[in-house]
Amino acid sequence: MKAKIYLETHGCQMNVADSTRATKRLSSEGFQFVQSYDDADIVILNTCSIRARAESKVFNRLGQINHNTIGKGKIYGVMGCVAQLEGEELFRRSTMLDFVCGTGAIDRLPSLVSRILSGEKKVLDTGQRLSNENWDLQPADHDTNHTAFVPIIEGCNKFCSYCIVPFSRGREISRPAVEIIKEVTNLRDSGFKEVQLIGQNVNSYKPKTNEGLEEFAGATPFIRLLKAVAATGTNRIKFTTSFPKDFHAGIVEAMNEYQNLCNWVHLPVQSGSDVILKAMRRGYKSADYLDKVAAIHNSHRNVALTTDIIVGFPGENEDDFTSTLDLLKQCNFHGVYIFKYSERPGTRAANMDDDVADEVKTERFQQVENLQREVQIKIYGSYIGTKQMVLVKGISARSEADVFGHSTCNKVINFKGGTDLVGRVVEVKVVAAKHNSLYGELAH
Ligand code: 5AD
Ligand code: SF4
Repeated sequence: MKAKIYLETHGCQMNVADSTRATKRLSSEGFQFVQSYDDADIVILNTCSIRARAESKVFNRLGQINHNTIGKGKIYGVMGCVAQLEGEELFRRSTMLDFVCGTGAIDRLPSLVSRILSGEKKVLDTGQRLSNENWDLQPADHDTNHTAFVPIIEGCNKFCSYCIVPFSRGREISRPAVEIIKEVTNLRDSGFKEVQLIGQNVNSYKPKTNEGLEEFAGATPFIRLLKAVAATGTNRIKFTTSFPKDFHAGIVEAMNEYQNLCNWVHLPVQSGSDVILKAMRRGYKSADYLDKVAAIHNSHRNVALTTDIIVGFPGENEDDFTSTLDLLKQCNFHGVYIFKYSERPGTRAANMDDDVADEVKTERFQQVENLQREVQIKIYGSYIGTKQMVLVKGISARSEADVFGHSTCNKVINFKGGTDLVGRVVEVKVVAAKHNSLYGELAH
């Protein structure tokens, strides 16, 4: 009997996709996956480094699992961004840890685990992905049979001054277009309703060859890929994350042309102040960002725009913050992820004076939240009376009589219904709105 594995995933969609790949690689070597760490011989945490004190959180979680666990003597492994960043250091800080697998080493996980099982101690791999390792997954490898994340590019070359991702995920590597198109086609054939093309910066997609894209015109390879993926006829296609500087108007044109490209764009602005944007090394000014927003709003489709904001970046004064509020008022975002700046060792911003007091960061966070709530009450309210195509994801957490799902504009919509609807796309009439969800009725 092969060892049983419990894998816990933290962080972004890329980590979810990596865990899917890790599960596939390990299952094909005969390992079994279990839902509880108590039943496992091997516990693996797939970790995220985007938030502050990421390593401490990993150690706390490992300690908690070890403390609660029935029958000690389990094998513990850490993979993902914290593994890549900290490497050896993790062994020094935790004696219970057996192996560390970086973001480039996922395809080599089975061999790392085998080495541990054959008695080797403290196994580490933070090396790069090898060129003969592909990203392929089969429809059956996903957790659901209706929605899948499909990575198209990994890593980031931008080096925004606050961000750890270029260090934890390395330089950009794009996946061959033919491989992506084949995977999406397989998903479509297996009845999947939605694919989400993912990458830290999807606009930078740059495969080594144009194979698979020949029939699709576009100013950038990403635009050509979007069209090629849309041409598979997959019901719904979403993509994230877009980097403002490289967001080409051709993306909006592609969305106008192909209705199965969903009407949602996530375009993180981070700040409305040009001084702060420069210090963040974002490579655009607020006016440039507003031009991109105008191009999106000019679409004949009602495209939902969402963003990320960092408050309290080093040097952010009241005027800078006011510029952020002004920008928010102009953009009519359908959703904003707000972050209080916190230092990441190794980044350029870590050498700057983190001079905005925590109370001020909290206060600014709340101001953005309050302003945004007002904006969203209006936006969400405007959906009342409309009909939306909803991909049903599961039973609502609030009420057993309701199911929830997502619209093509990425809104959560709840409505009365049963589990038989899960995985289906249905038409729902919106009858009520909160500031971050809609309530509807199944349209007949
Ligand atoms: N401090 C606060 N927020 C951060 N983000 C990334 N790095 C930091 C940091 N050091 C936020 C950005 C990014 C999102 C995923 O996380 O807004 O877009
Ligand atoms: Fe981080 Fe900037 Fe790259 Fe996004 S574009 S992952 S914020 S460095």
